[in-house]
Amino acid sequence: DCMTSQKLVKLPGLIDVHVHVREPGATHKEDFSSCTAAALAGGVTMILCMPNTSPPTTDQASLALTQKLARLNARCDYGLYVGAGTENADLLPPLGNSAIAMKMYLNQTFGPLRLDDITQWMQHFEKWPKHLPIVCHAEGQTMAAAILMAEFYKRSIHIAHVAKREEIIVIRQAKDRGMQVTCEVAPHHLFLTQDDLEAIGHARAQVKPPIQTKEDQDALWENMDIIDCFATDHAPHSVEEKEGPKPPPGYPGLETMLPLLLTAVSDGRITMEDLIAKLYTNPRRIFNLPEQKDTYIEVDMDSEWTIPKYMKFTKSKWTPFAGMKVRGAIRRVVMRGEVAYVDGQVLVPPGFGQDVRSEADAVVFAKPTAPAPKPVPVPVPHIAGGEPAPPT
Ligand code: DOR
Ligand code: ZN
Ligand code: ZN
Repeated sequence: DCMTSQKLVKLPGLIDVHVHVREPGATHKEDFSSCTAAALAGGVTMILCMPNTSPPTTDQASLALTQKLARLNARCDYGLYVGAGTENADLLPPLGNSAIAMKMYLNQTFGPLRLDDITQWMQHFEKWPKHLPIVCHAEGQTMAAAILMAEFYKRSIHIAHVAKREEIIVIRQAKDRGMQVTCEVAPHHLFLTQDDLEAIGHARAQVKPPIQTKEDQDALWENMDIIDCFATDHAPHSVEEKEGPKPPPGYPGLETMLPLLLTAVSDGRITMEDLIAKLYTNPRRIFNLPEQKDTYIEVDMDSEWTIPKYMKFTKSKWTPFAGMKVRGAIRRVVMRGEVAYVDGQVLVPPGFGQDVRSEADAVVFAKPTAPAPKPVPVPVPHIAGGEPAPPT
């Protein structure tokens, strides 16, 4: 408002590599239209969409369905993940060019996708094209095992939502040893600790990975130099679900990430260069994302405000950051030369967003399905008592 000074800063359109859109299957929680409106309001012009939908994005038909819904309804640009299941290691590689990356759920979390047996992981590590990223939900010791498997197959791995001291220390060691490991950290693990759970409410505060201790949080800030990306893990659920008997894990985060991080810039805890590297340069490099032409955002570094009970555009009408004082606000978002968002208003319609993987590669319903790949026997390296067999 007119009482506060304005210091406008222009930044690139930000990229959030970890978003749960909920469409198809749970549009009461969120859909492409509401999710991408929330993204734009948060200064995010490109989202990468997680595959734990209903149906999960695990084959050609489910990918085609999600592509169609996204094309019709997304307001910002997007890419789609495919999900590793117990039966689809041969089905996924042919879809690689239409997807952003493969997601592997190696611990129990929300949705049906979960790989327990390490030999199931190995099939995916072996077959998913080496030039395309693998992103793992892998907590604690599971994370160390996932990094070991990437090393067996001499390929890269991206670790989602690093939350604990032990995790960031293992990642530092892996990087020091030249392994192709990258990682992301979510705002809720940077800005909340177990001391906040009482105020948030223990049911609402459920999230995977959980909110950790102050020591864990400190370790993330101390190792900022090896954190490749910030990513929201925007995981909207309805307030009724969060307060119900079995609260599902997850927080909305798209509209609060940038204000929290701009506050950290003002407080001298990170630099603006860090912010741009972790929300733009590194996501583009790790996920091989195209430049968005004539796309940028303007933020007011001096605007001070308090995060309200819930944010405007997500359907998830609560936020774990309610009551936090922040400094920094998103004023304007320009996409492809059009004003997509200005001072609380989203101005671009559903359908304005584009799939960042070329439409030429898109899996189309009408297209006759390609002959199923010949089932090839999977050589599962026998580990006990010897060298693992080299990946084929
Ligand atoms: O808290 C979480 N919520 N963690 C996950 O891994 C999944 C996510 C969701 O989809 O709700
Ligand atoms: Zn996860
Ligand atoms: Zn997630």
